[in-house]
Amino acid sequence: MSISERDAGSVWHPYTQHGIEPIVPSVARAAGTKLILEDGRELIDAISSWWVNLHGHAHPAIAEAITTQAQLLEQVIFAGFTHEPAVSFAERLLAILPKNQKRVFYSDNGSTAVEAAIKMALQYHRNIGRKNKRILFLENGYHGDTFGAMSVSSRGPFTKPFSSHLFPATPIPVPTSDTDPNPIESLEKELREGDVAAFIFEPLVQGAGGMNIYPASALDQMVSLCKKYEALTIADEVMTGFGRTGALFASLNLSSAPDIMCFSKGITGGFMALGATTCTDEIFQAFLSESRTEMLFHGHSFTANPLALAAANASMTLLLTQDCRRAREQIALRHQGFIESLRGDSAFERPRTCGVILAVNLISAQGDSGYLSSLRDQIYRLSISRGVLLRPLGNVVYILPPYCISESELDQCHDTIRAIGEMVSRNEHGDR
Ligand SMILES: Cc1ncc(COP(=O)(O)O)c(C=O)c1O
Repeated sequence: MSISERDAGSVWHPYTQHGIEPIVPSVARAAGTKLILEDGRELIDAISSWWVNLHGHAHPAIAEAITTQAQLLEQVIFAGFTHEPAVSFAERLLAILPKNQKRVFYSDNGSTAVEAAIKMALQYHRNIGRKNKRILFLENGYHGDTFGAMSVSSRGPFTKPFSSHLFPATPIPVPTSDTDPNPIESLEKELREGDVAAFIFEPLVQGAGGMNIYPASALDQMVSLCKKYEALTIADEVMTGFGRTGALFASLNLSSAPDIMCFSKGITGGFMALGATTCTDEIFQAFLSESRTEMLFHGHSFTANPLALAAANASMTLLLTQDCRRAREQIALRHQGFIESLRGDSAFERPRTCGVILAVNLISAQGDSGYLSSLRDQIYRLSISRGVLLRPLGNVVYILPPYCISESELDQCHDTIRAIGEMVSRNEHGDR
């Protein structure tokens, strides 16, 4: 029996309808941008394996850092103890974040980084004697699959089965332009009503909500407004962090820095599970007291796992090289050229790009859009048959590649999107 057949008898996969996809391919190994399947096929990982991989699979420098660390200290309780890779990475991360970020709280994935942020914000207000409890979030946002993260995410197919168990949170419209007055007015109205503990958003690009790109200047005004009303701002950089939007972090495009920031995915170069939530000194100070009742009540068994931190340090070294910056710029340039070439193509709408992220919406004559669009399966199958892993969000196709992708590999990804457009037009209209 193949690995895939054995899998079908024993494993349950995330975001997978086993009724439609009973058999999934098995990946035997990976190198650079390539996934090598058990049956010998090769796929370009154009989505960085759910946006985690930065420098290519099996990068020798990161692999070696993990091996060395594994022989020294593989794991230790992080309550009451510390270790060198955790301290080094905290120092290095704070050095490249907005200057107001002064403390790093570790966890082990993106959802937990968000959970810690929400709890930090709520307990901060409590510790300083305020009653602020309400959370605002940017409409169409996605912050993870745990209950707190779902509660502050857009209500939709991901959250529907659990809606009765989510805590209330208030959506604020996403800015559609620099001058769109709607989000600012709506935010100010909520802030005036009072009791707001925090406003959470994905800066510049909303990932799972369809790779929606919106203007930094509008977000900047929203962050400033929150400061005026003493509501904390939480920038969820789980997807946008570590160079995806061009700058090392999307929040670096804001003149008004967020109070709390969340990281995961690319943090270890995609090798190990790690989350981090950073905050200002003012927030950290609010938890200092003679009494344990005011400490942050949050932690995970694998908080600050040394192997993950060794990977994070090795990945950071690669990220900060000129070569990596140049590679990101090259990807961004090539994306822009491709986007230009799509203008006027009737198969696509909203071609858009930000840093190394590129996205287009496939037009369906039947209005078949959204995450559950039936176009999704056609797109997925075609891309795999062309040797490219694209995992569309419904009718939204995007590329978010490892930074080591070559020009010819990127062209292959762009050509695949063009072919997807032709296929969808043919199937939808029968006229092309
Ligand atoms: C912006 C954002 N926040 C949080 C998460 C949750 O991260 P994880 O899947 O590691 O729990 C994701 C995952 O896609 C994300 O894109």
